Amino acid sequence: DWTMAAYRDEKIAQIRAQVGDAKVICGLSGGVDSSVAAVLIHEAIGDQLTCVFVDTGLLRKDEAKQVTTLFREHYNIPLIHVDASKEFLGELAGISDPETKRKTIGRLFIEVFDRESAKIEGAEFLAQGTLYPDVIESVSASSGKAHVIKSHHNVGGLPDYMKLKLVEPLRELFKDEVRALGRELGLTDAFVGRHPFPGPGLAIRIPGEITPDAVETLQQADAIYLDEIRKAGLYDQIWQAFAVLLPVKTVGVMGDARTYEKVLALRAVSSTDGMTADFYPFPWDVLAKTATRIINEVRGVNRVVYDVTSKPPGTIEWE
Ligand code: XMP
Repeated sequence: DWTMAAYRDEKIAQIRAQVGDAKVICGLSGGVDSSVAAVLIHEAIGDQLTCVFVDTGLLRKDEAKQVTTLFREHYNIPLIHVDASKEFLGELAGISDPETKRKTIGRLFIEVFDRESAKIEGAEFLAQGTLYPDVIESVSASSGKAHVIKSHHNVGGLPDYMKLKLVEPLRELFKDEVRALGRELGLTDAFVGRHPFPGPGLAIRIPGEITPDAVETLQQADAIYLDEIRKAGLYDQIWQAFAVLLPVKTVGVMGDARTYEKVLALRAVSSTDGMTADFYPFPWDVLAKTATRIINEVRGVNRVVYDVTSKPPGTIEWE
């Protein structure tokens, strides 16, 4: 009989056989996949593993703190936390094109990661939390069979100057299986149940130019939205929910005064694998409460709209 416990043990044995007594570096993104990969590999090889967490400054509010706390305090996994937010935001200044944003972030991520991992002497392997859908989307893109819609930066192997071999223990799994494996490894439901988050982070949820102010505004609004979704008990029914800060200002009224501030779009979809998705049919009161809170609590936003596009024809992210 196939069980997740047996699968975990089999993977642990495979990792040990592949790695021997060599050192492994794992790139942590802050998301569920790379965290599960890291915990699994740590079970297999203990302190032969070092994690490098490149904090782009483009994560959800407080997410960087949650990840570092989990790894350092709960699992005691060696972790290098690189705060590279200034570097990322600096290089992204003035860039509006979505694919240029992705490429810039992908390149910087590798540069920063490479710089940090060079400090770990004698490392031979690089661990990644690549999932099965990442593998097929990239294969179909590179074989030219599919039109490349978005270049996912977290797949595609290594630059030549990083002479590391890959360890990808999640390559056969879908998202729900990764979550089950994470629970098997002792991660909490709240942690493994977190919505997927794209590698380029909030950069692709700010159409147009990215500024530190825009990132902060979006983090605040996004946190309120997720808070209301959790309070309504809907978080686990939704595949992904997030806010998008539009580069459009509209007129509003606050007290006696006219306002002229940005529009924020809310997105939520149900899906099983992210390849197709339906917009989530919220009860109106959840959206109304979220909108009121965002407009009252977040400076710089005076209008909130809800996206009712499914995939296809829309994509889940706006960029
Ligand atoms: P789309 O927007 O293509 O998204 O419908 C499908 C799923 O992929 C995520 N996504 C990304 N993940 N790097 C990633 O790691 C990316 O560049 C990227 N673009 C989209 C998106 O959040 C959704 O879960």
